[in-house]
Amino acid sequence: MEKKLILAIESSCDETSASVVENGDTVLSNIVASQIKSHMRFGGVVPEIASRHHVEQITQIIEEAMEEADVTYEDLAGVAVTEGPGLVGALLIGVNAAKAVAYAHKLPLIAVNHMAGHIYANKFVHTMRFPLMALVVSGGHTELVYMADDGSYEIVGETRDDAAGEAYDKIGRVLGLPYPGGKAIDQMAHEGQDVYNFPRAMIKEDNYDFSFSGLKSAFINKVHNAQQKGEELNNNDLAASFQASVVEVLVTKTLRAAKEYRVKQLLLAGGVAANKGLREALMKAMKEELPEVELVIPPLSLCGDNAAMIGAAGFVELTKHQFAGYELNAKPGLLLG
Ligand code: KG4
Ligand code: ZN
Repeated sequence: MEKKLILAIESSCDETSASVVENGDTVLSNIVASQIKSHMRFGGVVPEIASRHHVEQITQIIEEAMEEADVTYEDLAGVAVTEGPGLVGALLIGVNAAKAVAYAHKLPLIAVNHMAGHIYANKFVHTMRFPLMALVVSGGHTELVYMADDGSYEIVGETRDDAAGEAYDKIGRVLGLPYPGGKAIDQMAHEGQDVYNFPRAMIKEDNYDFSFSGLKSAFINKVHNAQQKGEELNNNDLAASFQASVVEVLVTKTLRAAKEYRVKQLLLAGGVAANKGLREALMKAMKEELPEVELVIPPLSLCGDNAAMIGAAGFVELTKHQFAGYELNAKPGLLLG
């Protein structure tokens, strides 16, 4: 097969990233510049600061990705870029950079949904077999996505309020952890016990939706009540109790969806896919309850935002000759499917 190379660009939030991907499943380069240090002191991502960093970084990052892959623009078959969802000002930087490269080198422009990118990060570890179910858990989204085929997405369940990563980051703030708190809470959870028995919202309901805001409130109430009474709570136990609730709900509903839809594979995706507790619980539950369904989990390096995953999802569009025009715009609220 002829090698098809895609230059992919991702700038939807606080990572500026460019990558060269071969045939949608091999990473030739994947440069990720995180801005997290600039946002940390504000306790969250500041959109204006994000845009400014993207503008400063993007040209350099694209050049680095091309150099590391050791390819020229003439070698490329297309330029893929995240069109949404994300911060509008941040997305626009990537979209305009991609348009400029596509125009200058007469390359097809490919628009990619960020969430599709997270799912396709799994293609670097394993061939995708359909139909499949993907649990996509990030800072902005929590979704169960059914895929009948390449590039086909049906959201069968989603969060009704906070995303899983968002809940982690909010309770991280309550515990005084730097933003984003997800990773630190995951580590603390492994040092503690689930002693506080927080609610498992919607776990028994006959649907595939989630809710994490009640858990967040229960957590905050527990901490505030203890503070008022001058009681000491063990932060590791708090983290372990919070994580036990999130993981149990995610795993239970995901397995139920995988069974119901009779899928061949279950894919984990998104920033929260890096969660050790979630990865372990999902592996154990799948082995015990659904051994016939293949579980695919992305490597830690591809769980967070990166451009390689955009190149993998973009390759599907390239093979279908689904290209974007120069009127392509950022779509902050873009939905999957
Ligand atoms: O996918 P991502 O990099 O950005 C979005 O598209 O949102 O996800 C970032 C989210 C943050 O909320 C972060 O706290 C969370 O992923 N996260 C984790 C872990 N590592 C990152 N949450 C729980 N456990 C982790 N180990
Ligand atoms: Zn993401």
